[in-house]
Amino acid sequence: MIPFTCVRLPRLSLVNRILVTGGAGFIGSNFVHHVVATTDAEVTVLDKLTYASSEESLAALPSDRVRLVVGDIADFDTVDPLVAAVDAVVHYAAESHNDNSLSDPAPFIKTNLVGTFTLLEAARKHDVRFHHVSTDEVYGDLELDDPKRFTEDTPYQPSSPYSASKAGSDHLVRAWVRSFGVRATISNCSNNYGPWQHIEKFIPRQITEVIEGRRPRLYGDGLNVRDWIHTEDHSSAVMAILERGRIGETYLIGADGELSNVEVVKAILRHFGRPEDDIEWVTDRAGHDRRYAIESGKLRTELGWQPKFQDFDKGLADTIAWYQANEAWWRPLKAETEAKYAAKGH
Ligand code: NAD
Ligand code: DAU
Repeated sequence: MIPFTCVRLPRLSLVNRILVTGGAGFIGSNFVHHVVATTDAEVTVLDKLTYASSEESLAALPSDRVRLVVGDIADFDTVDPLVAAVDAVVHYAAESHNDNSLSDPAPFIKTNLVGTFTLLEAARKHDVRFHHVSTDEVYGDLELDDPKRFTEDTPYQPSSPYSASKAGSDHLVRAWVRSFGVRATISNCSNNYGPWQHIEKFIPRQITEVIEGRRPRLYGDGLNVRDWIHTEDHSSAVMAILERGRIGETYLIGADGELSNVEVVKAILRHFGRPEDDIEWVTDRAGHDRRYAIESGKLRTELGWQPKFQDFDKGLADTIAWYQANEAWWRPLKAETEAKYAAKGH
């Protein structure tokens, strides 16, 4: 008898050609992998290849499905023909790190505001479906003991130059929907973790510090709360919104992953068999948001989305294993990243 084998075929995508801006960054590259693995769509990545990007993150992908165009989203002549040639734009490109926005806000204004404006103008000109990837930080922060979480109706109150620039970009998208009929949706997601995240960010910074034999660094009292989601769950949510989301709507993306920073650091230390109090307490971030928390009921009820990676310890263990296996990728970035932090007392 011939054994029956179950082959998982990629489903036919509702959008055949997708332009992914920032597709060589952490979340964008994970999204491109998700698209290739789960659909038959062709992807063009537009990425400026800033310090935060990694061409290597795309290297394993088939060249007949994914191509990389190096360029700036704020340059209309670059953007225009790329947008004209696709069915949808998924817009991840951004300056993304709060600490950098406090040292030098200028690139955040240029990329996050002028870049989003430029893409919207091209989407308007060619009537192309547009999905804007944004952040829960546009809502400001919550007190630790506040029973509320962010919803799609929470008023905007961004704290940092980064979150203010993302808030502004969200407003641009809404205005282009209402004024010009651009077919756009917006998602605001909580803190992502997973492979290919730049080591300036909290979780990979601490993992790589511990691998290097140093102590993890905690800002302030370490009690600030972030709502962690695996980047693969972010990708599946964006795909659901792109394919089934209602035009003009905003969807919050979160996986009920609230943890304080000190809890995350202790979990990393436990994983490496180090004492849980082996922590370096460093200068706090200016204007440091206290807590983020997402209520993602609209996305779950309306689009039937569910997160798959809800065991944080398991997701963290896999992420640690990934950084251990990919030292050659992050090690060249480490000295420069830590020198920037040292200059700020972090
Ligand atoms: P990242 O910094 O890792 O990657 C950003 C990518 O954008 C890089 O590849 C960079 O080269 C590219 N880029 C920057 N400026 C550009 C420009 N002018 N033109 C073209 N490309 C440019 O960022 P990330 O953490 O992957 O975040 C991606 C998006 O998701 C951002 O819009 C961010 O606001 C949003 N987001 C991030 C998180 C998170 O936890 N990291 C959570 C919610 C939303
Ligand atoms: O909430 C979504 C946002 O999450 C995204 O929009 C941003 O692009 C992304 O960078 C992230 O912003 P945060 O500021 O929350 O992430 P960051 O990794 O910089 O820091 C997470 C928390 O850890 C924050 O409370 C600051 C703290 N921290 C950070 C670093 C780098 C430390 O305590 N020690 C550190 O060394």
